[in-house]
Amino acid sequence: MIKTFNSSDIDQLEKIYRINLINAITGFKSVNLIGTKSADSKPNVAVFSSVIHMGSNPPLLGFVMRPLPHKRDTYPNLKSTGHYTINHVTTDIYQQAHQTSAKYEKGISEFEECGLTEEYLNGFDAPFVKECSIKIGLSYVEEYAIKANNTILVIGKVEHLIVPENIIEDSGHLNIHEANSLTLSGLDTYFKTEKLGRMAYAAKPKTS
Ligand SMILES: Cc1cc2nc3c(=O)[nH]c(=O)nc-3n(C[C@H](O)[C@H](O)[C@H](O)COP(=O)(O)O)c2cc1C
Repeated sequence: MIKTFNSSDIDQLEKIYRINLINAITGFKSVNLIGTKSADSKPNVAVFSSVIHMGSNPPLLGFVMRPLPHKRDTYPNLKSTGHYTINHVTTDIYQQAHQTSAKYEKGISEFEECGLTEEYLNGFDAPFVKECSIKIGLSYVEEYAIKANNTILVIGKVEHLIVPENIIEDSGHLNIHEANSLTLSGLDTYFKTEKLGRMAYAAKPKTS
């Protein structure tokens, strides 16, 4: 049996059912901790599954901020300091990472509450997550308001990339599975990964 949903079926779904269903349909997602500091130096960290590659030259990453009640920390912090970090969640810390999504009061450090360690590297003022193996320091570049659902696409430029040397190949490929980076289905189901193979650049077949 196959089940189909049209847009009016989706509109009528129970709220949590719809969240679970629609969050899974993009396929596996990246899962990252975004670290920031407030203007008065209070650290903050939270989990995000919407980080995307925007381009390599300049090296730009984007992520989607959900609608902003005033209490949220990540967005006001990165706007006021201009800096934030993106850190791959690994197998060892996925439970702590998930817990950072709880609605802690403004100014409470999820680092302390969730058992993660803030780390300052390369003179960068935003906190990296010590437990993560792949860490990226970014400067805020621009943002786009997505009117359809009142979210914001935040775009940043990679200023620092900090990775274990043994996972970088001579070609520049990064073996993120060896760094124990995870992937995520929906908003709550974490997976380890298994490499299948690397494909050659796909050339158009020659016609005879
Ligand atoms: C797995 C997972 C992925 C999430 N991804 C996002 C996301 O991409 N964008 C977003 O705005 N919130 C996302 N959230 C919710 C935030 O983690 C949550 O709202 C958090 O409290 C925000 O932290 P802040 O208030 O310190 O900014 C996600 C939550 C979970 C559990």
